[in-house]
This record gives sequence, structure tokens and C-alpha cells, in this order.
Amino acid sequence: MDNLSIPNMKKESLITAHILMVEDDEIERSKILLHFETEQLLYKFSFASSVSEAKEKNETIEFDILLIDVNLPDGTGLEIQAQNDTTPCIYLFGVSDIDIVVQVMKAGAFSYFIKDEERKYLKLLDIAIQHALVKKQKDDELVRYRTQLEAEVQLRTSEMKEINDDLIAENKERILAEEKTRRHLTFLNALRDIDDLISSSIDLNLTLNILLRHTVSQLNVDAAMFFLLDKDLLQLSYKAGIGFKDTTDFQNTDIKIGESFAGKIALNQEILVTNFKGETLHPKLKKVVEIEGFESYGGAPLLAKGQIIGVLEIYKHDEIIPSSDWRSYFEALANQAAIAIDNFQLFNELQKSNLELSLGYDQTIVGWSKTLEMRDDETEGHSQRVADLTVKLARAMGVDADELVHFRRGALLHDIGKMNIPDAILLKPGKFNDEEWGIMKMHTEYAYEFLSPISFLKPALDIPRYHHEKWDGSGYQAELKGTQIPLAARVFAVVDVYDALLSDRPYRKAWPKEKIIDHIKSQSGSHFDPEIVDTFIKLIK
Ligand code: C2E
Ligand code: SIN
Ligand code: SIN
Ligand code: FE
Ligand code: FE
Repeated sequence: MDNLSIPNMKKESLITAHILMVEDDEIERSKILLHFETEQLLYKFSFASSVSEAKEKNETIEFDILLIDVNLPDGTGLEIQAQNDTTPCIYLFGVSDIDIVVQVMKAGAFSYFIKDEERKYLKLLDIAIQHALVKKQKDDELVRYRTQLEAEVQLRTSEMKEINDDLIAENKERILAEEKTRRHLTFLNALRDIDDLISSSIDLNLTLNILLRHTVSQLNVDAAMFFLLDKDLLQLSYKAGIGFKDTTDFQNTDIKIGESFAGKIALNQEILVTNFKGETLHPKLKKVVEIEGFESYGGAPLLAKGQIIGVLEIYKHDEIIPSSDWRSYFEALANQAAIAIDNFQLFNELQKSNLELSLGYDQTIVGWSKTLEMRDDETEGHSQRVADLTVKLARAMGVDADELVHFRRGALLHDIGKMNIPDAILLKPGKFNDEEWGIMKMHTEYAYEFLSPISFLKPALDIPRYHHEKWDGSGYQAELKGTQIPLAARVFAVVDVYDALLSDRPYRKAWPKEKIIDHIKSQSGSHFDPEIVDTFIKLIK
């Protein structure tokens, strides 16, 4: 176990930090300092010997950690923590007094130690400091991430309002300058960026694999793995492992609490180190041990806020001889993993609440579609009407309720590609020539280009992309036929033509409703899906 050297561990997990040490006992203070100097840790220390001095320093300097002796000449250390609740506090006690321990932990202390004669606690203090730093870093990251996201959405929302206000003002002249179009495209890009930000996430597997690598080298074993607890099923399942020839057996085994080694560790919440010889093994484990040639085993519970969330296991081809340092490393690594997993789960919850921000996206979509209406010389509320009717028709066709939101979004955005069509073509008062028609037909392609990078709009893409396909295969751009055309696009096509013909266009006047219905019926089986036409006619009447 000699090669499990302390300096090695330190080097790898080295984190510099500025620590305020509040300690009135000169001797204790220099002992602590001496310890950290000989361990060559790059912590910077500032000192205070009373509550008032500590408060003064803490006000002007942003410390990473407060290391506080509880009993100070002018009060208790708790008053310092009360001043600033974001900096992790580690407390030192002269004597073990359970009341004050409970008091500091309730106040949100990160950790506490009771000073012992031989100063064994200093070793554990190293680990606590590193944990506090990791945790602080992660907390800071989460707060930063959230703030950034919220600011971004707010900015986009106000930009959108500004753009819309501008557009309403200019609508009178019925001119939309090239500049405006470009702004909308910039806007699209911004939405894409937010979306990227939302879908990026801290990679738990990567973190766990790094931790496993550390575990194997620090603890001098041959293989290591994580089992994580499924809180609903109350069983452990394999999450990550290194050093095994084959993990299939583990991957296919769910271990119940109390069962096999891992399950016992989860139940007892204590580190277990043992030799396989003479133990009765769970049949799957027995097979793995034989194939891999393991002789000894260790397991540590992963505890987050006092709750079991998994087990860290280690395996070795020869005997494990655990020293007390070794045990504390094992414990430290398990704690670090628990923090990482817990933070990840927290992060996921945060992401879920960020999805609520996508409500803000829907406002954005409505904004774009209105803008488009104005440019396209359409009557107000047209895109909303098309969207409403599409959803109704889809529902009547038996589309699942949770799909409908994508139908709505797709319908609202169906002609977003017209953003890229020049005014001279889009607003042409007469019939198109071939060249103009060729450009106009690109609008479905442009829509796909604009929208496909935005992941939350992926399920809504069928309408913008395929709304001009025809049942008999004579549409554009993909020239799909019959049920090759996605249902959303088939449903929408009927609504689009219906509503287009109800409105005046630069190239023709609105049609009366009866004429439109006759037209749609006549196109059943050529332009439109006959089944959808039937449903539509019933719906309209
Ligand atoms: P839009 O005006 O929104 O029309 C959507 C669809 O409704 C058209 O798709 C077409 O299937 C149907 N539709 C619209 N107006 C008429 C019409 O007068 N008669 C008939 N039978 N069907 C009609 P389509 O044809 O693929 O056109 C796509 C877009 O291209 C149109 O969207 C419009 O913005 C533009 N467009 C098409 N033809 C002309 C044209 O002759 N002049 C101009 N300026 N624009 C045109
Ligand atoms: C198993 O039984 O297959 C999992 C290994 C363990 O018990 O720790
Ligand atoms: C739109 O331009 O927003 C809709 C065009 C249509 O549905 O006819
Ligand atoms: Fe279109
Ligand atoms: Fe259209």
C-alpha cells in the first residue's frame, strides 16, 4: 500500500483557494499552517483572531472557504457565517459538544472537525476543503448558467417585441427592407444558440469515468465500477466501469437492496472490504470473479445529503490491505462521486424548469409568423387561424393530443421560408414566370434550412418542409406521393389552400367559401388525401 502516496493524490486534485482562518489560538493556527505547508498545498491563508476581525475581512475579500474556530473571544463563529451564506464554512471545535455541532450543521455548515491532540483531523480537513471547493465551483456554475439563460431569453423577448413594433409601424407603407429580413435571420440564429445552450449538459458519464480512473490508481486496484440506485424500483444497476474484460454480466443484473455485496453496502451504508475466498457469492458475481480472476473486493456507499444513491465498487487480482489512509481515500472518492451524481440530478431538474422557458419560444414563433403575415400582405391573425384549424383537423383525424403542439408550431411557421423570397417575387401583383416560380418553390427548402438546427422544432418540421407536396406526387420539393407525405403535411395542405383562397392575394381576390369547398373536393385524390378532405368538409360544415 506504500505506493498509495499522499502527494500523488494531492497533485491530481490540486485546487488553489483563498481561505480565511479564524482562530484565536496562536499555536493551533501555526500547526494548521505548518501542516498545509508541508503538504505543499497551494492554499492562500488570511487570518483573523476574533469575530469582529473576521467579519471585517470577510466583507472586503471574497474568500473561497471560511475555516472557523467556534469559540472566539468576542462571540461564536456562527456569527461570521450568518454574514455570508454562499461561502462554505468548515468549523473547528475544541471539545466535542453535540449541541453546538447540531447548531452549526443546522446553520448550513459544510463540515466540522473536533481538534484532537495528534492533529489527525488535519488529514481529513484536506479532503473536506477539496470537497467544499468542488461543490462551490459547481454551485457557482449552476447559478451562472441559469442567470445567463434567463438573461438571454429576456433579451430575445424584448428584441422580438422591438422588432414587431418596428414592423407594425412600417407596415403602413407595405415595405419590408432587406435589413429587416436579415434581422429576423439573426434572430433565428439566436434562438438556435439558446437551444444549444439548453441541450448541452454536464456529462455525467465522463465525470464518472474520470472518477473511476482516479479510484483505480489511487486505491491501487484493478477494476472499479458504479452501481446507481433506482429510487422507484429500489434496486442498483450498473452505470459505469473500468478495468473489466467484460461488463455484460453486470449490465444485465439489477441488485436489490440487501442482496449481494453492493446491496448490503447500500443497506448498511458502510464501506466493506473483503476477500472473495470463503464468501458465498451471488451466482452472477461468482461468474465474473472467476472469468476476471479477482481475489478481493471493496465497496463504498454513495451518500448524498444522507441518502444512499449508489455504490462504488473496486476489484483486485490480489489482496487488498486497507490502511486508514486508504480507507479515507476510498471514502473521499465515493463522496466526490456522490456530489457529482447529485449535482447532475440537480442540473437535470434545472433543465426541466428551463424547458418551461420554451413557453417563451412559442411567443417567439407567433411573433415571426405575424411578421411574415405583414410582409406577405396578409390579413392579421391569418397564421393563428391556420394553426387553429390545423389543430382541429388533426384532432378530428385522431392525432394524439401530445403531438398537436408540433402541428400548431409547424402550421405557424409553415411559410417561414418566404423570408428568403425577394419582395419583387413575393409581392408580385400578377402571375409568375418560370424563373420566379422556381424561386418561390424554394420556400419549403429554406424553411427546412432555417428550422432544422433548432432541436425543439424538429418534430414540427414536416409542415414547413412538405406542405406543398401533393397526394398524386406532383407537388414540390421532394415530390412525395400518398402516405409517403407525413400526415402533418397532408392535413395542413388542405387548411393552407382553404385559408389562402379565403384571403385576397396580390395576384387575385378572395374566393367565396362555396367555391373553395368545391375546389377542395375536386382536388381530393389528386392534390389532397381523400380521407382528410372528407373529415375537413364535415368539420367546416
Ligand atoms: P399562398 O398564397 O399562401 O398559397 C398557398 C397555396 O394555396 C398555393 O400553393 C396553392 O396551392 C393554393 N392557392 C393559392 N392561391 C390560389 C389560386 O388562386 N388558385 C388556386 N387554384 N390555388 C391557389 P402554391 O401554388 O404552391 O403557391 C405557393 C405560394 O407561392 C403562394 O402561397 C404564394 O405566396 C405564391 N404564389 C403562387 N402563385 C403565385 C402567383 O401567380 N403570383 C404571386 N405573386 N405569388 C404566387
Ligand atoms: C452482482 O452480484 O452481480 C453485483 C456485484 C456485487 O454484489 O457487488
Ligand atoms: C402565411 O403566410 O403565414 C400563411 C399563408 C397561407 O397559409 O396561405
Ligand atoms: Fe407555402
Ligand atoms: Fe402558405
